[in-house]
Amino acid sequence: MTIADQKELTSAEYWNNEWRRLAPSRCYASLDWVHRNYLYRAFDRLLSGLLPVDPDRTFIEMGSGPARWMIYFHRRFGYRVVGCDYSEVSCDLARRNLAAAGIVGEVMQADFMTIEGQYDVVFSGGVVEHFDRPQDVLAAFARLVAPGGILITDVPNLGGLNGLYRRLLKPETFETHRLVTLADLRRIHAGLGLQEMLATPYGSFTLGRLPTDAFRRFPRFQRTVWRPFHLVASRGVNRACLLMQGAGVRLDHRLISPHLVVISRKPV
Ligand SMILES: C[S@@+](CC[C@H](N)C(=O)[O-])C[C@H]1O[C@@H](n2cnc3c(N)ncnc32)[C@H](O)[C@@H]1O
Repeated sequence: MTIADQKELTSAEYWNNEWRRLAPSRCYASLDWVHRNYLYRAFDRLLSGLLPVDPDRTFIEMGSGPARWMIYFHRRFGYRVVGCDYSEVSCDLARRNLAAAGIVGEVMQADFMTIEGQYDVVFSGGVVEHFDRPQDVLAAFARLVAPGGILITDVPNLGGLNGLYRRLLKPETFETHRLVTLADLRRIHAGLGLQEMLATPYGSFTLGRLPTDAFRRFPRFQRTVWRPFHLVASRGVNRACLLMQGAGVRLDHRLISPHLVVISRKPV
């Protein structure tokens, strides 16, 4: 099956335009970007509780974009990392970011529905919600998981409060995204014969899905009111969540948390 066989809501050209806005950077090289941000730190905690550190394990990121998660999985767990993305601009950016981080990793420019191989860990973040039929995409991803290997699927939570922000402030989000719920993800993974290890919303009430550019049609308001408000509110909430985490409190629910993740294992 290729992307032509089922409806994809974006295209390589769409992503080329998105990634052209990002310059190659060393900022992913250390994992400070994970530790400073409550959302990423929460994800790191969930993964660290389940994944082994093992430099012999292989890892592929489907829709690898700038390769920040390839860098993370290599640094955090030692995995030998491969990325796959059909956007030429993203592949170039990913190769440069890996080089800047001093990490040897392969980046293939390809439609991920068509590639072959077997990997110990197959990860996608922010990908399957861009398709009308996420189940077909996850079936293609699951094929690449080696027996005993792990499939990790992470999506933005476009339901609950975060969906409301988007519907009110940036309804065009739903032209390129479908609402994928935790129940959908769990059902799809189970239907593929995978054994669930973890399925949860995460990120507490951080404002990861509150659009930064909600008022771009009103440039003055956007610049003088919304942007400063967004910055202060996001930083304040991030700090409050980090403090909460320091006190051992984890507050997550599908109605408030900005991300959903399912981690499952392919039977041996
Ligand atoms: C939202 S971005 C996520 C990037 C990365 N996972 C991250 O979180 O930094 C989705 C990525 O999936 C890629 N993508 C979408 N459809 C694809 C396909 N059929 N084959 C390969 N890559 C695809 C896009 O080019 C884009 O880079």
